[in-house]
Amino acid sequence: MIICHCMRVTDREIRQAARTGACTRTEVSDRCGAAACCGGCAPAVDEILAEENPAARVTLVPLRKSA
Ligand code: FES
Repeated sequence: MIICHCMRVTDREIRQAARTGACTRTEVSDRCGAAACCGGCAPAVDEILAEENPAARVTLVPLRKSA
């Protein structure tokens, strides 16, 4: 599933970046390009990063639900 629409990065690519040592959103971005443009996918990237890499340094912000 595409998570970052700007850079066309999938959840699998983000998970792979986390499994290979990315501990911050910037490190994920450096490895696969996610969250490198508008930042709209940043909360989803952080959530995946936290799931895959417990050592990740992320602060999860709840996603807003549309009204
Ligand atoms: S959707 Fe990921 S940077 Fe825009």
